[in-house]
Amino acid sequence: MRILVTGGAGFIGSNYVHQLLADGDDERVVNLDLLTYAGNLANLEAVADDGRYRFVRGDIRDRELVRGLLTDERIDAVVHFAAESHVDRSVEGPEVFVSTNVLGTEILLEEARGAGVGRFVMVSTDEVYGSLGETGLFTEQTPLAPNSPYAASKAAADLLCRAFHHTFDFPVLVTRCSNNYGPYQFPEKLIPLMIANALEDKPLPVYGDGLNVRDWLYVGDHCRAVDRVLRAGRPGGIYNVGGCNEMKNLELVEIIVDRLGKSRDLITFVEDRPGHDRRYAIDAELIMSELDWAPTVDFASGIDHTVQWYLDNRAWWETIRSGAYRDYYDQMYGDGGRHDAGPAT
Ligand code: NAD
Ligand code: DAU
Repeated sequence: MRILVTGGAGFIGSNYVHQLLADGDDERVVNLDLLTYAGNLANLEAVADDGRYRFVRGDIRDRELVRGLLTDERIDAVVHFAAESHVDRSVEGPEVFVSTNVLGTEILLEEARGAGVGRFVMVSTDEVYGSLGETGLFTEQTPLAPNSPYAASKAAADLLCRAFHHTFDFPVLVTRCSNNYGPYQFPEKLIPLMIANALEDKPLPVYGDGLNVRDWLYVGDHCRAVDRVLRAGRPGGIYNVGGCNEMKNLELVEIIVDRLGKSRDLITFVEDRPGHDRRYAIDAELIMSELDWAPTVDFASGIDHTVQWYLDNRAWWETIRSGAYRDYYDQMYGDGGRHDAGPAT
């Protein structure tokens, strides 16, 4: 298959590109990524010279670029990760979330449909469902009730996918996954932020009472779920993906502190996130029964591996936190993307 991955230089996208190339069955993987603050080519150093892989720095909102890539590369399938992904940033400035997540998805859908692409996987999120009380699980039938500007923009994109399937019979598939963790996660998200701060003996900012609940899934398991949906999902299908692993934030931060041998005194309760969703929990029965997917990494080994990865790759996150990597990209890509190897012949 010839696959266009959008957002492949981000956390989940780069893990997915690695997985695709390691599995080795695809002819071509084209990664279209704007390299915003969250995109990082260091995530993909190991595959940069793979002949099946091409990186293109560009914007999913650039219609001409998207159209050219889809046709020049004879793309069979799109796997769409590219997004503004951080809830706190969407509270500070929602506009870019609407622009990238909604308009960007619409442009991709329209161009992919026009180019006759055979499969389009939209990587949506469980945040489209809003927040749960102390009991219950999100199913694919749970009404959408997004609470943050980020979640609302993802819900709009998710519903555009529904509309493209309903109206045009375009083969869109949607995944709605819970919180991921693992290597290459940008150190603004809870787990890498806590690891990096603890290693530098900085305060660990826990929002509100720390009792908000998330369902954590190892990133490799999410990538396998996306790939199962790509290859075997029902066109028009929506699939919840989750780890069956609910944890309170405070409990999770304590585990990280203990694993690193640091003092729990670093934990600092700070002002709550506005509109903070209380609890997410996923019913993933559909993807398990229909597509034979299940999480393979239990939380204890997943978090050990993740903590070890951040210990072993200190330069990766220190460079990001220092801001030096922005200067590097400005230098490397100021001329319009000289790392693009050009279309396949
Ligand atoms: P991320 O922020 O780490 O990566 C996003 C990537 O998209 C970056 O490489 C960025 O450069 C790129 N990008 C942003 N705007 C772009 C644009 N206009 N054109 C091209 N590329 C652009 O995000 P992530 O955590 O890897 O999440 C990937 C996807 O998965 C997102 O759609 C997110 O909503 C979804 N998701 C994330 C989680 C999670 O726990 N992180 C869970 C469920 C769903
Ligand atoms: O559920 C899927 C979603 O998970 C994805 O769609 C989003 O892209 C992804 O960012 C993530 O959203 P969250 O808001 O759940 O993730 P975050 O890592 O920002 O926060 C996790 C929890 O930890 C949340 O309850 C807020 C809390 N938190 C977060 C940070 C950054 C803190 O208490 N302190 C912090 O410093």
